[in-house]
Amino acid sequence: MRRIAVMTSGGDAPGMNAAVRAVVRSAVHRGVEVVGIRRGYFGLLGGEMEPLGPESVHDIIHRGGTMLLTARCAAFTEPEGERAGAARLRAAGVEGLVCVGGDGSLRGCLALEGLGIPSVGIPATIDNDLAGTEQTIGFDTAVNTAVQAVDRVRDTAAAHERTFVVEVMGRRSGFLALAVGMACGAETILIPEVAWSPETVCRRLRRGLSRGLRQNLIVLAEGAGRATELGAQIEASAGLETRVTILGHVQRGGSPTAADRNLSSRLGAAAVDFLVDGHHGLMAGLQAGVIVGVPLGAAVAGRRTLDLRLHELASRLSA
Ligand code: F6P
Repeated sequence: MRRIAVMTSGGDAPGMNAAVRAVVRSAVHRGVEVVGIRRGYFGLLGGEMEPLGPESVHDIIHRGGTMLLTARCAAFTEPEGERAGAARLRAAGVEGLVCVGGDGSLRGCLALEGLGIPSVGIPATIDNDLAGTEQTIGFDTAVNTAVQAVDRVRDTAAAHERTFVVEVMGRRSGFLALAVGMACGAETILIPEVAWSPETVCRRLRRGLSRGLRQNLIVLAEGAGRATELGAQIEASAGLETRVTILGHVQRGGSPTAADRNLSSRLGAAAVDFLVDGHHGLMAGLQAGVIVGVPLGAAVAGRRTLDLRLHELASRLSA
């Protein structure tokens, strides 16, 4: 294998830069040239490529975002777009592709593999929802960023004896909300995986109020409901002064944690080794602390399932 390409795609995740760095330096170490594709599949279709060497990835391991830029690309969900992407890679003499991104991005990677481009995916999303890996790049940083923010919210909630509904990202999964809520000792954690209703939340809050508990922290996953609606329902039916905080994209930015940098470095190096050693159609994933190759088809077939015992534990500990 003489030349590989690397791209970041979909929503950015802290640690993507560290993964690109690891891919570039591992490839050079194995005598393989690297081109960087800018703006994910969108840039691929436009032929946005640049050669990358060890110096190109200097001073990025600690930076959030992605030096290669990223995009969501609807055209790449169509067979015509996928074929055009494969043709672009062939024309550039690319013999292997490493794509760093979430489930949509890895689906694109699988399509290119099917079109004869040896491809390996690296799981990166703050949602942590990819099957086949215990952790995705960016999750640990997003959890820590959100925990810092929620701790601050807790201070003002305590000072005013208010109830707060804090909405966190996670798309359709509750991994982020659960990890954040548990770490912050939230009284209530609402996630898509566990059925809930405003009535049960308000009943619980009223019970707390009868014991003198006026201050509450509710962490709500964006996939489980709207914080603004729940906040209004609590004010109306539980009689508690309530405020709403939507953390939003603050969770996607910032310097990656050491855990994310190290995971990115390991996954990036493994992805290159897989490709160069002739193993492709894989996602590099973390299982029981070890980096393994998971068939891309299995990685994107379904979302990772959340361990509901953790939700029960968080609920028990907050009572
Ligand atoms: O998948 C990562 C994520 O941050 C989700 O948690 C969120 O729902 C979505 O991306 C937001 O996407 P965008 O930045 O395109 O609005």
